[in-house]
Amino acid sequence: MNLTSSSGFIWNWLEKAIIYPFMSILKIARMGHPVLMQKAQSVEDPTSPEIHCLVEDMVETMYDAPGVGLAAPQVHVGLRVVVFHVPRGRSDGEDGAGSVPLTVLINPVIEPIGEEMNTAFEGCLSLPGMIGKVARYTHIKYSALGLDGKPFEREASGFHARVVQHECDHLDGVLYPMRMDDLKTFGYVEDMQKEVKE
Ligand code: NI
Repeated sequence: MNLTSSSGFIWNWLEKAIIYPFMSILKIARMGHPVLMQKAQSVEDPTSPEIHCLVEDMVETMYDAPGVGLAAPQVHVGLRVVVFHVPRGRSDGEDGAGSVPLTVLINPVIEPIGEEMNTAFEGCLSLPGMIGKVARYTHIKYSALGLDGKPFEREASGFHARVVQHECDHLDGVLYPMRMDDLKTFGYVEDMQKEVKE
């Protein structure tokens, strides 16, 4: 099943609507739940129906939230599975360049490229309504298995790199406040609008 191209995604959506009308929106664990603090287990067989079903439900849950990424521990499943996308409006390029179609990462591994870091606000579906400033590597290389069980590798920068680092942290029991240098930048988004706009 190819979830990595947009046309593939449309066909998948049609397939789901016709064949799997009972996909589920899963309950999202919030900060404090033990499942978010644990190291997730590697997936043995990315091609198994159980993993495909989990991914379908995670994608549905992510779009419903809505969010740009979701890791399996956030839906109470302690496995190394991440789904994410970078929509045009959130990409670093003005004309949507840098947007990334829906991507599934199984057993992902991240490697920084260089030591450059940048600081920006992040939110998380497990901390609804909150944001905080987090430093992340600006450039990374990441590798993972796809749903077909085949390995792939990508380089990422900016927001794309940030999303992947944030989501993969979930697989090691790390939430973004644990990465924050200055808790003064942590709070409820409604009350921090002024600073966010600056
Ligand atoms: Ni998160």
